[in-house]
Amino acid sequence: MEYITLKNSDLRVSRLCVGGCPMGGHGWGVVQENELIDAVHAALDQGINFFDNADTYGLGQSERTLGKALGSRRSEAVIATKFGVRVTKQGTVYDNSPQWIREACESSLQRLGADYIDLYQMHYRDGRTSIGTVLEVLEQLRQEGKIRYFGLSNLTQADFAELSRYKCKFVSLQNEYSLARRDHEADMLQFSRELDLTPLTWGSLGQGILTGKYDRTAAFGSDDRRSREIYVNFHGEKLLKNLEIVERMRPIAAEHGKSVSAVAIRFILDHLKDSVVICGVKRPAQLLGNAESLGWHLSPEELDLLDRISR
Ligand SMILES: NC(=O)c1ccc[n+]([C@@H]2O[C@H](COP(=O)([O-])OP(=O)(O)OC[C@H]3O[C@@H](n4cnc5c(N)ncnc54)[C@H](OP(=O)(O)O)[C@@H]3O)[C@@H](O)[C@H]2O)c1
Repeated sequence: MEYITLKNSDLRVSRLCVGGCPMGGHGWGVVQENELIDAVHAALDQGINFFDNADTYGLGQSERTLGKALGSRRSEAVIATKFGVRVTKQGTVYDNSPQWIREACESSLQRLGADYIDLYQMHYRDGRTSIGTVLEVLEQLRQEGKIRYFGLSNLTQADFAELSRYKCKFVSLQNEYSLARRDHEADMLQFSRELDLTPLTWGSLGQGILTGKYDRTAAFGSDDRRSREIYVNFHGEKLLKNLEIVERMRPIAAEHGKSVSAVAIRFILDHLKDSVVICGVKRPAQLLGNAESLGWHLSPEELDLLDRISR
């Protein structure tokens, strides 16, 4: 197993993290609770100890399922979850007010059936609350023993100057990053280098397109978010470009005796220094396919090829 210690913390996590979005049972097509639970156990059995979640995934269902799956194995896991996306009668809003963070934290703990959250992450900025104010309430929650460390997600250059006043307070930054989505790379490297944040990548399999199991006829039902054009990886020119990348990965996967997903993940592990790759999974077979990414390296030539064709 490959582990890394998240910066400014004692959180030792596997470099492959289990993503909780499909575990919410909403907007990802059909998922079965027993298969999700088995996938969590398969992860722990492999030594994969890092689980990413959010209060908003399936409106809390993902945290409930993760809590149920971990059960007495809680101490083997590092749980990351998020606050700041709030569903109201008027629709979904971003809210990082101290009151909401407190309420969200209590609810997440309850759903997870946990005494503490290892890594509590701000999902999105709300456009109103300063990072200093967010930090104050996170510090209080830490003193109360409810959370251990703080992380960030979906930040951009516009946040850099404000965040630089709080260097070493946060441990990680999540952004979308994969062979299908390279545009956050410079930011992630800069935030990591200058603000000492461990990069965590989401959408690491391009929401599934980089697994090699889809072709140009890929289509999803209305219960799957990927049916919507904003999930660009599965539509139009972008879909065709992604399929070209998949075709270039196939011989590399065959050469190493690994899955195509494993090559897509390995590219991030080898290319994005000291990163952790988050992948959503629906069942144990997917988890095991992704775990094939660990414990080997792409050659410099293979990395160079994948780098060039995905830029
Ligand atoms: N911070 C944020 O704002 C944010 C946003 C989005 C996601 N995230 C986090 O990042 C995680 C990963 O992103 P994601 O789940 O959106 O996308 P992803 O990891 O790129 O893709 C996940 C999907 O790919 C398919 N898949 C996974 N492994 C596979 C395998 N070995 N073989 C075949 N198919 C496989 C599954 O769907 P199918 O079988 O249906 O194809 C799975 O649901 C999320 O779960 C969440 O924890 C964070």
